[in-house]
Amino acid sequence: MREERSKRISVKGLKLQVDSGTNSGKLVKEVIGLNKTIDGKSIVKGLDLIIQRSDRIGLLGPNGCGKSTLLKLLLEQLTPDSGQIKTGTKLKVSYFDQVRDQLDQNRSVKDYIAEGRDFITINGKDLHVVSYLKNFLFDPDQSRSAIRTLSGGEQNRLLLAKLFTLPTNLLVLDEPTNDLDIETLELLEELLIEYKGTVLLVSHDRTFMDNVVSSILVFEGEGHVQEYVGGYADWVTRNKAELANNTARTSSKPEESEHEANKRIKVAAQKRIRDLDKVTVQIEKTEQQLESLHTEMAKATFYELSNDKQTVCYSQADALEARLIELMDQWEQLEAS
Ligand SMILES: Nc1ncnc2c1ncn2[C@@H]1O[C@H](COP(=O)(O)OP(=O)(O)OP(=O)(O)O)[C@@H](O)[C@H]1O
Ligand SMILES: [Mg+2]
Repeated sequence: MREERSKRISVKGLKLQVDSGTNSGKLVKEVIGLNKTIDGKSIVKGLDLIIQRSDRIGLLGPNGCGKSTLLKLLLEQLTPDSGQIKTGTKLKVSYFDQVRDQLDQNRSVKDYIAEGRDFITINGKDLHVVSYLKNFLFDPDQSRSAIRTLSGGEQNRLLLAKLFTLPTNLLVLDEPTNDLDIETLELLEELLIEYKGTVLLVSHDRTFMDNVVSSILVFEGEGHVQEYVGGYADWVTRNKAELANNTARTSSKPEESEHEANKRIKVAAQKRIRDLDKVTVQIEKTEQQLESLHTEMAKATFYELSNDKQTVCYSQADALEARLIELMDQWEQLEAS
C-alpha cells in the first residue's frame, strides 16, 4: 500500500507550500510528573516529557488507552490530577480534533477556506483559493459548491486544507488519516515532512506514522507512557515479537524509484539530526536530575530520613543511572549511523 501511494505522489508533483508561521521558542512543552486517572483507570502516570521545536512525536497505543486524553492535557483543555505542564513561548497551535467540528454544510467550499475572499495568504504570498484547493484535489466546480455536496472523506480533506491555511508552529493531529483516500494521505504525508514546526500525531496508519514522526510515545499500559527515539519501525525492531512480521513486509517491497529513494534518504538524514538533538537534551536532563539527587543524598540531613525514604532515593538514583546508560547507547548508535 505504501509503495502504491508513493508512486501516485511522484506522478502528481507537488508545489504546495505549508505555512509554518513564525518559529516558536525552542521549548514547546515541558511535562513533569503528569498524572491523570479517568473513572478509576490510570491514563498517564508520572509522565516526564520534553517537547522541543521541530520535534515530531507520534502517539501509539490501542483504542481507549488515552492518546486523545494526553493531547488534550498537553493543550491544557483537560486538567491533570497532578503534575506540571510548562508551555513555551510564541506557540501557534492548530488542533485537528478526532471529534471534528461540524462544518457549516450550506457554506461553499471556497468561502470556508478563504473566509469569503478570493485569495488566501500562505508564507506572505497570495494564492487564489481555487488554485489552492486544486492542490487538495478539489476541482474548480467543487470549490464553488456547497460543502453538503462533498462525501465524508472529501469533507475530511477539506478540514485538512483549512488547517494548512492557518499560520501555525504546533500541529496537533488526532487521527487525521481516517477516511482519507490514498492520494490525500500521500499529500498530507508530504506536507508534514516539509512542515518546519512541531508535530504531535495520532494515527493508526503505521506507515504514515513512520514516515512523519521521529520519536514515539508508547502507551504501555496502566498509565505507563514511554518515549522511544525513532519511528514506529524502530520500535517494532526493538519488540522482537513483531520482528518477523516486519521483515516479511519489508521483503515484499517492490523496487523504489529514484525520487522515492531520494525522499527516503532526505527524511532519514533529517530524522537522524533531530534524534541526536533530542537524545542530547534527554541526556542533559537526566544528568541534571541525577546530580541534584546526589546533592540531596550527600547532605547530612539525608541520613535523618527514614530507611524507606532513603531506599526510594537509592532506587531513583539507580533508575536514572540505568536511563543515562541507555541514552548514551542510543546516542552512540545514532552518531555511528
Ligand atoms: N469525556 C470522557 N468521559 C469519560 N471517559 C472518558 C472521556 N474521554 C475519554 N474517556 C475515557 O478515557 C480513556 C481514554 O480515552 P481516549 O479517548 O483518550 O483514548 P484514545 O487512546 O484516544 O482512543 P482511540 O484510539 O479510540 O481514539 C477511555 O477509557 C475513555 O473511555
Ligand atoms: Mg483518540
